[in-house]
Amino acid sequence: MPGPRVFVSRRIFPEVIQRLAQGCQVSMWEDPMPPPRAALLAQVADCDGLFATITERVDGELMAAAPRLRVVSNMAVGYDNVDVAEATRRGILVGNTPGVLTETTADLAFALLLAAARRVAEGDRAVRQGAWRTWDPMGWLGYDIHGATLGIVGLGRIGLEVAKRARGFGMHILYHSRQRRPEAEAQYNLTYCADLDTLLRQADFVTLHVPLNKETHYLVGAEQLRQMKPTAILVNTARGSVVDQRALYEALRDGVIAAAGLDVMEQEPVPLDDPLLTLPNCVVTPHIGSASVATRRRMAEMATDNLLAALGGQPMLSCVNPAVARY
Ligand code: NAP
Ligand code: GLV
Repeated sequence: MPGPRVFVSRRIFPEVIQRLAQGCQVSMWEDPMPPPRAALLAQVADCDGLFATITERVDGELMAAAPRLRVVSNMAVGYDNVDVAEATRRGILVGNTPGVLTETTADLAFALLLAAARRVAEGDRAVRQGAWRTWDPMGWLGYDIHGATLGIVGLGRIGLEVAKRARGFGMHILYHSRQRRPEAEAQYNLTYCADLDTLLRQADFVTLHVPLNKETHYLVGAEQLRQMKPTAILVNTARGSVVDQRALYEALRDGVIAAAGLDVMEQEPVPLDDPLLTLPNCVVTPHIGSASVATRRRMAEMATDNLLAALGGQPMLSCVNPAVARY
């Protein structure tokens, strides 16, 4: 029996593809760049399942071009690239990969926090440019992490892992989420801020861990940046559009806040003429929060498990619109 047809939109681990191919007719996009839109629409035309990543926009147009589509399995925990309401309306199941990337992403958030505070990327650039002329008692001064106050916006899986790391650095920890987490507060000595502004006013470092949706779009804009301390540092490993990037540029340029560490941008890849890239006090990484060998393999495995389960009429490990399921 040939099995359901599946399109894998990006190159993934060969052993994972082999497992998928045991139950499905698989076609995989081999180019390192994502499929152009027309190619993507053509590829999904006769597919039952789509193995997608965050670079694919899975919207009504794509679903209309794929009349057989029953499952979209996103190799990411975030699924703002998928129109879940439209998928649900069409009876298409959507899966994601929470949990397996939590610690790796928290590590990267902390790396950006350290890099922005201690001017790591700026220092590296200076060394390579021959600007390290002496040990300077007043040179390359940054901000201490130990003893500082960290504000975590979105105390979910990743936010909590960042809190654990912050404890090891002797930080005081505030958090803001819509719901309180009393057990986590007690276990990790966290202080809840019911409103975001309180956190922004008190924190020396603010790190963002909310999903991107209508409510969190531009959660941090000019007004919020003005609430922050002039010595504060913003870290964003959530999604670019959680921050108004233009407002962030102006805040960094004008000293409204001190620095930023960004793994995600409103437009990815960030255009080389983006003004943020002209600022020494902004560290940017190319959306690599989950990019360790082991974690990317676990994500690919989980996305495959989700896809195979749903195509076989079984519950996914993680489904974002389980109401669709007809088990
Ligand atoms: P999660 O466990 O669902 O945590 C998200 C948290 O955000 C929840 O605890 C939620 O708590 C809170 N939240 C939601 N809406 C909020 C709002 N309007 N205001 C304040 N808090 C809000 O998700 P996760 O696994 O930690 O992942 C978080 C996000 O990180 C993902 O959605 C993804 O976009 C991003 N991410 C990026 C990378 C990367 O490579 N840079 C890697 C992995 C994930 P309440 O419901 O109590 O508000
Ligand atoms: C990556 O950005 C993810 O959401 O997994």
